[in-house]
Amino acid sequence: MRQVVWNRDRLGLRDVTEADVPALHAIYGDPTVTQHMPFAPRTLGEVADLVDEAMAAVCAQPRLLYVMAVVDAERRDLIGVARLSIESEHPHSAEIGFGLHPDVWGRGVGTDLVRLLLSFGFKELGLHRIWGARSPANLPAQLAMLTAGMVEEGRIRHHVHTPHGWRDSIVHSALEDEWIDR
Ligand SMILES: CC(C)(COP(=O)(O)OP(=O)(O)OC[C@H]1O[C@@H](n2cnc3c(N)ncnc32)[C@H](O)[C@@H]1OP(=O)(O)O)[C@@H](O)C(=O)NCCC(=O)NCCS
Repeated sequence: MRQVVWNRDRLGLRDVTEADVPALHAIYGDPTVTQHMPFAPRTLGEVADLVDEAMAAVCAQPRLLYVMAVVDAERRDLIGVARLSIESEHPHSAEIGFGLHPDVWGRGVGTDLVRLLLSFGFKELGLHRIWGARSPANLPAQLAMLTAGMVEEGRIRHHVHTPHGWRDSIVHSALEDEWIDR
C-alpha cells in the first residue's frame, strides 16, 4: 500500500487518517464552507465514514480515489481537504474537489492548492485531463481555478441536487498537453 505524499511550495498533500476526523469536521461541518457544495454541513459521524471510505480506497487496485489532507508544509497542520476521483471508464481523466478551513481563505492558498492538485494529477498520476465543477455563484473557486490555468468549459444544467434544490455547475478543466506548471 503506497501512501500519497506530494509537496510544493507552502502546501503538502497526504492521505487522510482517522486522526484527521476532528480537523476535517471543522471544515466539512462548517456551513460557510459547504454553502456552495451540494450537501448540508457534515456531522462528525459522516466525516468519520468519509475517512473510512478514503482509507479503503488507498488499497484498491487500480486506485481511483484520493482523499487527501492539505497540510501547511512547515507546520504540518491540516488546513484543507482535496479529493481527486479518477473516472473508471475514462482513467485518463479525473475530477477534483477541494475545500479549505475559513481561517486561511483569501491569502492565495486556494489558488496554490489547485496548482498542487494539477501537478499531482499530471506528474504523479500521469493523467491527461483534470476537471472540477463549481457552483455558478462560487467566485473564489472560479478565480482560483482560472488563475491556476483551468479553463471554463461550460455549464451543466441541474447537475446536482442541493438542500436548496437543483443547481447548475460550471465545469473547468486542464489538459496535460496545454498545462503550464505555474
Ligand atoms: C474555494 C476556496 C478553496 C478558495 O480558497 P482561497 O484560499 O480563499 O483562494 P485564494 O485566496 O487563492 O483566492 C482566489 C481568488 O478569489 C478571490 N477571493 C477569495 N475570497 C473571495 C471572496 N470572499 N469574495 C470575492 N473574491 C474572493 C481572491 O481575491 C482571488 O482572486 P485573484 O486571483 O483575482 O486574486 C475557498 O473559498 C473554500 O475552501 N471554499 C469552500 C469550499 C469550496 O467552495 N470549494 C470549491 C468547490 S469547487
